[in-house]
Amino acid sequence: MSAENLGFLLIGIAAVILGATIIVMLVRSELAAASGNVGKSSGGKLVLAVALGMGVIAFSFKLAVFTLMTTLPRQTITPLMVERHFAEIVPASWSTMPEIPQKDEPYVWQALPLAAPAPADNPTTPEKVALGRQLFYDANLSQTRDVSCASCHDVDGGTGVDSRRTSKGIRGQMGGRNAPTVWNAAFQAVLFWDGRSPSLEDQAKGPPLNPIEMGMASGEAVAQRVRDDAAYRQPFDRAFGKNAPITFDRVAQAIAAYERTLITPDAPYDRFVRGDRLALTPAQLRGMALFQSTGCISCHSGANFSGASFVNLKDGDPPAAVATDNGHLRMFPGNDTPYVQRYNLVADKGAGGRDADRGVWRIPSLRNVALTGPYLHNGSVDKLEEVVRIMAMSQLGASVGTDTHQGRMVFWSQDDRSVSKVDRPVLSDGDVQDIAAFLKSLTSDALAKKVAAR
Ligand code: HEC
Ligand code: HEC
Repeated sequence: MSAENLGFLLIGIAAVILGATIIVMLVRSELAAASGNVGKSSGGKLVLAVALGMGVIAFSFKLAVFTLMTTLPRQTITPLMVERHFAEIVPASWSTMPEIPQKDEPYVWQALPLAAPAPADNPTTPEKVALGRQLFYDANLSQTRDVSCASCHDVDGGTGVDSRRTSKGIRGQMGGRNAPTVWNAAFQAVLFWDGRSPSLEDQAKGPPLNPIEMGMASGEAVAQRVRDDAAYRQPFDRAFGKNAPITFDRVAQAIAAYERTLITPDAPYDRFVRGDRLALTPAQLRGMALFQSTGCISCHSGANFSGASFVNLKDGDPPAAVATDNGHLRMFPGNDTPYVQRYNLVADKGAGGRDADRGVWRIPSLRNVALTGPYLHNGSVDKLEEVVRIMAMSQLGASVGTDTHQGRMVFWSQDDRSVSKVDRPVLSDGDVQDIAAFLKSLTSDALAKKVAAR
């Protein structure tokens, strides 16, 4: 204890003694005289003095403990805190940790809007939606007349995916990427794993012309297939006006309008956010808190759980893409982990380009994610819990399960030649289960029923 602290302690004790003396004097002279029956007997005086004295002693005790706590040598207290394995050096690759939102701007959880935003030049109408649905299910839009959009995006079955690692197109050809679900794609500001398409209208023109997926020679060839089919004349008139020419652009517009109706605002999570306190299980609620505190929300944010979506809005704001510093894309994997090799995560660099050392990808939505495995751009991971571990380690520098690099570590930056401390989130296996449970609360009730009925 330093001389200065000792001085404080002595002054404290002196103040307590002085205070106690004044109180005792007051009891004797004033209270006893003024307080009727109690004060008359010496027993009464004793009771009063003891009661007041106890208060003074309790106060002094608190003061002593406080002084002791603040003056104990640091080493005695730090083991009680979270600095574990403090001396390990973090490799430079841990430097990509995203910023976790600060406490003074609380994260606002949002339910999914009940309608998807549509662009001014392609308003959603029931007629266009009906036409779009017909086109979505039409295998004639593929060269071999046996693959439709629905072949890879099984909307009727509930999931909107093909449940394969990578997709199978015409003549059994296998593509290189996993099919994302079309459910809630209407809320994404950019589409495809690498975010290369800016709208559903633009996206819908991709698969018909993709040589692996549907293999049509040109947009005109697609439009001709539609013109050749008499079943389309009436729906086209209704959707675009009498005798409106059937064009590839309009085919894409109708499909996009249909996709804007493929939304799922009916998940337990949505019911919870709208006020049904019992919609989430305790495990899901714990997972929700971990999803925030671990930092998943720094990327999977807003109502569609994707920083790349239209719906990170406060109530009443007009639909607008969220401006993030680097657009809607993130490096993945952000850190070197054993998962990179195990799941072949850097063979495909996405938007990162051929010479990049790792991939750059659009942040996917996590809605209905429990139904849409296998996971990641290459469909390499089967279990949701495993994706949570991969995300936590490679996107947030967290330590997971049996990973030995626990807790806070020392980070060496070669560029600045500086050492700093890094607090890494630590997730137990139970935490991982809880986060996965929370992700399951993003499954639409209606889709869950469809899948169960299959
Ligand atoms: C052979 C399987 C296959 C067919 C057929 C197919 N898709 Fe896809 N779809 C995929 C795959 C794989 C991706 C991801 C490709 C990528 O990111 O590079 C994808 C991506 C998408 C996306 C983007 C979703 C998102 O979250 O970014 C939409 C929307 C979509 N497809 C709609 C359609 C429509 C509409 C059709 C029909 C015109 C169609 N797909 C035909 C396999 C298919
Ligand atoms: C730094 C941004 C970032 C953070 C933080 C992040 N993710 Fe991701 N997440 C991504 C990107 C990018 C992908 C797409 C990866 C790919 O291309 O394979 C993804 C993919 C996923 C997927 C797979 C989706 C699918 O359909 O295959 C899940 C599940 C997921 N993240 C959950 C989480 C959880 C849980 C956390 C927190 C522990 C988290 N993410 C933190 C960016 C992030």
